[in-house]
Amino acid sequence: MTQPSTSEVRAGAIDVLLRNWRGDHTVPASGLYPHQWSWDSAFIAFGLRHVSPRRARLELETLLGAQWTDGRIPQIVFDPAKGAEYSPGPSFWRSSEIPGSSAVASTAGFVQPAVHAWAALAVHESDPDGSAQARFLERAYPRLVAWHAYLTQRRDRGGRGLISVLHPWEPGTDNSPLWDAALGAVPATPRVPFDRPDLAHAGPGERPTDRDYGRYYWLAERYRDHDCDDRDDAYPFLMEDPLSNALLARSELALASIADHIGVDPAPHRARAADLTVALDQLWDDELGIHTAADARTGELVPVATVNGIVPLVLPGLRDADRLVETLTGPGFLGSGARLVPSTAVTSDAYDPRRYWRGPAWFNTSWLVAEGACVQNRPDIASALRGAIVELAGPGDHPEYVGPVDGAPHGTRRFSWTAALVLDVLHREERP
Ligand code: SER
Repeated sequence: MTQPSTSEVRAGAIDVLLRNWRGDHTVPASGLYPHQWSWDSAFIAFGLRHVSPRRARLELETLLGAQWTDGRIPQIVFDPAKGAEYSPGPSFWRSSEIPGSSAVASTAGFVQPAVHAWAALAVHESDPDGSAQARFLERAYPRLVAWHAYLTQRRDRGGRGLISVLHPWEPGTDNSPLWDAALGAVPATPRVPFDRPDLAHAGPGERPTDRDYGRYYWLAERYRDHDCDDRDDAYPFLMEDPLSNALLARSELALASIADHIGVDPAPHRARAADLTVALDQLWDDELGIHTAADARTGELVPVATVNGIVPLVLPGLRDADRLVETLTGPGFLGSGARLVPSTAVTSDAYDPRRYWRGPAWFNTSWLVAEGACVQNRPDIASALRGAIVELAGPGDHPEYVGPVDGAPHGTRRFSWTAALVLDVLHREERP
């Protein structure tokens, strides 16, 4: 089979982003995910900036515009025309009835990882003049500061200088084995029966199970019924996730650069990034040689090796970086022959190469690990991962994720962040 040329690969990726554009945001995929998702939009912006910096700014501004008064940026901003196509949708959340929710959009109550400041800085850097003219950074900065303040002030539920996630949707790695033990204490039967429109777009063997979904809904009902107030002491799922904490720290570093650009003191942002980087040491599992999740109430670590624990490589000054690189290149991850980073170590009992976050490789986490490899002075690893991102995206029509070793496409297709990150990688390769 002849390999497509770089311009064909680029054109295919641009086509995905153009088709998934909805006027002021990009849907992650037209069938399975018909609304605007928080961390998807940030990853999409990293690629969209190479196609249209103006659209990339608008993508982030639409999301930031749906911010709640407490500073949270919601996991999903609903498109009213697509209400019934995704569940739980706007009729589940009824966000307009929740005090302090967005006044302009119907949204979910949970959040997702804070990749936004990092994306905003990248979007600015791709078109500094257009950004300056639009006063993009000046307008985004206070919203991004409020977003990070929400996380550091309201979500440090363990009091250990780390933010907690309140639902497996929040770290974005829904059915990762990191959450299995904590979910075991959550009832699997929500009060209201739920439907699974997702199964019309991906095989049941590739998605979380109904049992997982029962628990997801139970937690979401509980959170919604407490007005999405984070001070619910009996709430049963409070986990410290290495990916969410590392990305917040990385975004604090970006906020420092944004502050510099607009003439604000960057020092508090650098200090917070450094504090979070040190706090992440509490999530280090020395036996597995990787960061892992902890229950925020007990500090107990979950002994499973997942990609969430490798993402902290994006942080300069990370204490255990050398051993973490060894784990990345070892038998559980790239040493297995995997081309992209498996979401769960192939050596783990929980590994399943097809089922959502229990084994398959995702393009965004592999892109993050490539960034991390650069931070840790391993351009060889970064270059291999970036090459695989470009090679594996096109043949499966920009799949949501792939089998880590065979590269077989899974999940939905024409997935926006897959296409966006291909464009970002191609752009980096072009630079001298
Ligand atoms: N990942 C979730 C889903 O699959 C939503 O964030 O629906």
